[in-house]
Amino acid sequence: MKKIANILVGVDGSENSLRAAETAGELGRKWNATVHLLFIVGPSDYPMLDGKEVWADQGAKIGANELDKAAAMIKAMGVETKTDVDFGHPAIKLLKQSEGMDLIVLGSRGKGAVKGMFTGSVSLRVSQQSKIPVLIVP
Ligand SMILES: Nc1ncnc2c1ncn2[C@@H]1O[C@H](COP(=O)(O)OP(=O)(O)O)[C@@H](O)[C@H]1O
Ligand SMILES: [Mg+2]
Repeated sequence: MKKIANILVGVDGSENSLRAAETAGELGRKWNATVHLLFIVGPSDYPMLDGKEVWADQGAKIGANELDKAAAMIKAMGVETKTDVDFGHPAIKLLKQSEGMDLIVLGSRGKGAVKGMFTGSVSLRVSQQSKIPVLIVP
């Protein structure tokens, strides 16, 4: 197996994604890898707000806040970390940004877990379409 040097984590602010980040941090410490934390602002995330500019702006602020929390935890574990906010469909963007990474770590559920039966669509799609290993944390 290829050496794991770069780990991508999808952070959506859910408990599951924070556990995914923690797991990535533990693996990062073990393997001396960098943990890349990515928050994607999806167009359907903030439908109550008028217009694209507004949701993008608000979403980026919420994302930066969630990323700060996760990054502080990873740094406290003594692991190198980078953060990024992107815009678009979460699964598509995660797959795109996994180019050059060695492992993707996601939560099994996300923020949408209370919404009904169609949960885990991002982790499901990424795990099915990824070209690199995906670790799904419950
Ligand atoms: N907008 C997002 N940005 C980054 N990662 C995400 C995003 N949405 C989901 N993920 C990742 O996918 C995992 C599973 O979420 P998801 O498939 O959306 O489940 P749910 O349907 O319960 O929201 C999350 O724990 C997180 O790791
Ligand atoms: Mg979701």
